[in-house]
Amino acid sequence: MKTTRRQALLSGAAIATAAALPFQKAMAANPEQSSSSKPPADQALAGAVSLSDFEGVAHERMSHMAWEYINSGAADEITLRWNREAFDRIRLNPRVLRDTTKLSTKVRVLGQELPFPVILAPTSLHKLAHPEGELATVKGAGQAGTAMVLSTMSSTTVEDVAKAATHPLWFQLYVQKDKGFTEHLVARAEACGCKALVVTVDTPIEGARNRQERAKFQLPPGVDLANLRGLKTQFRAQLDSEKKVFANILPDRLTWNDIEWLQSVSKLPVLLKGILNADDADIAARSGVAGILVSNHGARNLDTVPATIDALPRVADKVAGRMVVLLDGGVRRGTDVLKAMALGANAVLIGRPVFYGLATGGADGVTKVLNILRHEFEMAMALSGIDSVEKIDRNALWT
Ligand SMILES: Cc1cc2nc3c(=O)[nH]c(=O)nc-3n(C[C@H](O)[C@H](O)[C@H](O)COP(=O)(O)O)c2cc1C
Repeated sequence: MKTTRRQALLSGAAIATAAALPFQKAMAANPEQSSSSKPPADQALAGAVSLSDFEGVAHERMSHMAWEYINSGAADEITLRWNREAFDRIRLNPRVLRDTTKLSTKVRVLGQELPFPVILAPTSLHKLAHPEGELATVKGAGQAGTAMVLSTMSSTTVEDVAKAATHPLWFQLYVQKDKGFTEHLVARAEACGCKALVVTVDTPIEGARNRQERAKFQLPPGVDLANLRGLKTQFRAQLDSEKKVFANILPDRLTWNDIEWLQSVSKLPVLLKGILNADDADIAARSGVAGILVSNHGARNLDTVPATIDALPRVADKVAGRMVVLLDGGVRRGTDVLKAMALGANAVLIGRPVFYGLATGGADGVTKVLNILRHEFEMAMALSGIDSVEKIDRNALWT
């Protein structure tokens, strides 16, 4: 099995070498113009062996404005730093002389089987990183065999992404002030085959996005919020920046009653994204949702909230298996995946690394990012003496 995984990684690298893209800087300024460019072969993708290598390549390739948009956090970026440092502080507890030759990373989340417990987090505007945007992302996720959560604020419609999806697609919902439009969005996601609704609950307003402001972020020509095209014209005119988007469409009074209402209008399992507090997790479990995503929005909203991996144990203890618990924020290594599973997550999601993969090598870049995490996770399990995901528990950590 290990040989097969290694082969998969190596062949992923070979495919990706032929597809890397050196044109993101120009593309971010005008993606439509450069979408016809034929990507020349590039050594950078083949040479990237860790997610931080991808980050370096992506930084070189993206425009300053696009980079500041995707890679920044809120305010002083303290939580952004903590999201990583908290993972680094946790030590693993290796066990020896255990047979892991039949090691399996398979998991089931909401009844859907995944080959390894890493899912693509919902992030906006993938055309900032690659002209094919979310179509490249969903292809990359499919090549790695995993699920993707599509953002309400994607630059490609949910219908087009669903057509290209070969593996489970979930839809992330920003509940709109316009309830009718919200219901319509949910119906669209359901109609095109999305398998779950991920409702973001941590963004009643936007955080202090200083770096985005300094970089004067606005939508480049040819990039729009494709799912929101049907919004009423008074809002449409103002959709030229995420700040205005949030100011104009997000409801300021989203409450638990709205979650009940959403569950009544959708047949899909509902997950709540953006829970850090164990008492909120308890209310969520009692409200009948299918799961929660422990997230601080990639440290883009409220600075100085705890790292998600620090928040996870309390949440998982409170939930006590009543619903699915996922985590995102700072996952960059297979060892991080193991740590999150040990502390009670059923799977993890990655946000920024998807942009790094896209900017470096389109769909194949995304696939390679995922395959690296999968391979690192396998190595971490094997070196910890654990051969299946069900056997991961707190004993995997050095306490
Ligand atoms: C550029 C960017 C755009 C994002 N857009 C959304 C979004 O549209 N909806 C949402 O719920 N979360 C959004 N997020 C948050 C991610 O879903 C996720 O919580 C976060 O990126 C995870 O942290 P990581 O980037 O360290 O992996 C976004 C994050 C980034 C970096």
